[in-house]
Amino acid sequence: MLSATSRPVIEATLPVIAAHIEDITPVFYGKMFAARPDLLEGTFSRANQKNGTQPQALAGSIARFATWLLENPDTMPEELLARIAHKHTSLNVRADEYPTVHEHLFAAIVEVLGDAVTPEVAAAWDEVYWLMADALIKMEKGLYEGLSADVGYTPWRIAEITEETESVKTFRLEPADDSVATPGRPGQYVSVRLTTEDGLLQARQFSLSCSPESTEKRVITVKRDQDGEISPVMHSRLAVGDVIEVSPPFGLNALPSDDGRPLAFITAGIGITVTSAALCSLKRAEDSRSILAVHADKSFSTVARLEPVKQAIEALPNARAEWFLREETGADHRTDKVNLAELGVTPETHVFLCGPMAFMQAMREQALEIGVAPQDIHYDAFGPDIWMPAPGNPVQ
Ligand code: HEM
Repeated sequence: MLSATSRPVIEATLPVIAAHIEDITPVFYGKMFAARPDLLEGTFSRANQKNGTQPQALAGSIARFATWLLENPDTMPEELLARIAHKHTSLNVRADEYPTVHEHLFAAIVEVLGDAVTPEVAAAWDEVYWLMADALIKMEKGLYEGLSADVGYTPWRIAEITEETESVKTFRLEPADDSVATPGRPGQYVSVRLTTEDGLLQARQFSLSCSPESTEKRVITVKRDQDGEISPVMHSRLAVGDVIEVSPPFGLNALPSDDGRPLAFITAGIGITVTSAALCSLKRAEDSRSILAVHADKSFSTVARLEPVKQAIEALPNARAEWFLREETGADHRTDKVNLAELGVTPETHVFLCGPMAFMQAMREQALEIGVAPQDIHYDAFGPDIWMPAPGNPVQ
């Protein structure tokens, strides 16, 4: 809880800090990478720095955390913190780096806001930073302790590569050493770390697209992102037999246990990996829940994981798929816009969303209109989660 001394100071200065986040963050990262260039070698993503999404996410989350403390003095924004903690642990971020971020972030705040940062203001924001850092460190410790073994990245051999579509490949991985592997769950992701064309070590998260019965396997489906650092390398340079570094699985969004309520997976584009992972587990468990899989794409030829998804839908007793394919000419699909009410989504449904941000926001609006409770709408933002710290944030 924020101290009585800091509270009014934060109240008074939050608007100023929030208004200057876009100025503070480049200065912060500039200072941090100048002092610690090694943090760009395997920890921070150069691609995210270029497109500006990650700076927005990190700094925005601190302002959002401060807002939460003012509005809900006795609680913590658990979901916000958990999302960050999972991302951090997948990147093997450890507690001893928090003073580094603190030092450069505060130096940037002073540089941008100048005399407005009185000792009193600095002390109040220090308190906010460490409240958030301590909560994250604690959560991250719990996540590391929850692994079968806290091994960080381990080497995995590519056992199989399947060409899903023109721009998507599925990689089946097997351990390349005898480290203990933690079982993956649907909705979780791993970080893959490898060396880019120009020799920089970089990491990127990929959802598990199936959690095989054996924990000794990982399946990830990777879309080639022209502006990315990792996926172009995975698509063009990697072959069966190659070894890459992979983190243990992390991430929220695990399937709820059977409470008799229906499940709906609403995805677009590469977001289908989330459906694929869930259906893969549900099929293995012979789950009898009512399951709806809605997927929007260009045509069947651009849908990744098409066969595994179709097979799971056929095998599951109460599952159906609805395909919304704007350029497909054949039968078995629709070309209009997704309307969740028409498709039978009810207020009791657990809704899972994955796809471009605008798609997820539109689907969330529809689900809320139907009467689905906000906590039953789960979403997965690939890449830095710029939805999370936005005003009117839907996460909490
Ligand atoms: C990602 C917040 C400390 C390294 C993120 C994200 C947020 C965040 C909001 C984006 C999550 C997402 O993608 O959904 C914070 C806060 C911190 C903190 C509030 C301190 C209180 C640290 C520290 C490190 C670190 C100490 C390690 C030096 C990263 C990295 C990413 C990340 C590498 C992934 C984004 C990228 O690759 O550029 N953090 N973080 N963070 N954070 Fe932190």
